[in-house]
Amino acid sequence: MSESKRLAGEQAIEFVEDGMVVGVGTGSTVAYFIDALARIRDRIAGVVSSSEQSTARLRGHGIEVLDLNAAGPLPLYVDGADECDPQRRLIKGGGAALTREKIIAQASERFVCIIDPAKQVDVLGRFPLPVEVIPMARSLVAREILAASGGQPVWREGVVTDNGNWVLDVHGLRIADPVALEGALNQIPGVVCVGLFARRPADVVIVGGQPPRVLR
Ligand code: 5RP
Repeated sequence: MSESKRLAGEQAIEFVEDGMVVGVGTGSTVAYFIDALARIRDRIAGVVSSSEQSTARLRGHGIEVLDLNAAGPLPLYVDGADECDPQRRLIKGGGAALTREKIIAQASERFVCIIDPAKQVDVLGRFPLPVEVIPMARSLVAREILAASGGQPVWREGVVTDNGNWVLDVHGLRIADPVALEGALNQIPGVVCVGLFARRPADVVIVGGQPPRVLR
């Protein structure tokens, strides 16, 4: 499996152009992308990172990490996913970095998603949907999610996001309309971010393999 992730991560380098500031996601697939990016670090202007975890790996390679407010709109964002449907809509947040990931995806002209083949599904929802919540609203949000979706929210106990918040994982969903569900869950007070990337899906998906498949 990690071989597929490596092939996907390394293929994404094809989308990096000289002088770019590159948005960088989080996770084990992205780690391969970061390692490949390190080999061409003198050709890029820097990166914007989606997590403390990725920032540490990037800085370890001597890659300059910039603030999104200073960097402005980005030409490219590269990130993994927990599930991907045929319309390139995603479930993300298995690594609890969904909020910053969604911010950078929104700020980017092109979102290249790198996955291993096991992440491909016809309908999103087999992977429990992560939702980042303000800690005091955890129970309220869980009740509201159950009422709105029928899914079973489970608190990811012990996990605190880089933003100081908590995560609910919503089990038992079959997401027929990801855009509608993303919008509905976003309306619940106390929800910081929903791990559905449907309103702003990936533009390109690279499925790791020999050779990697590029879906547009
Ligand atoms: C982190 C994410 C990751 O992209 C997702 O969990 C995939 O991770 P991996 O590449 O390790 O399978 O959304 O919040």
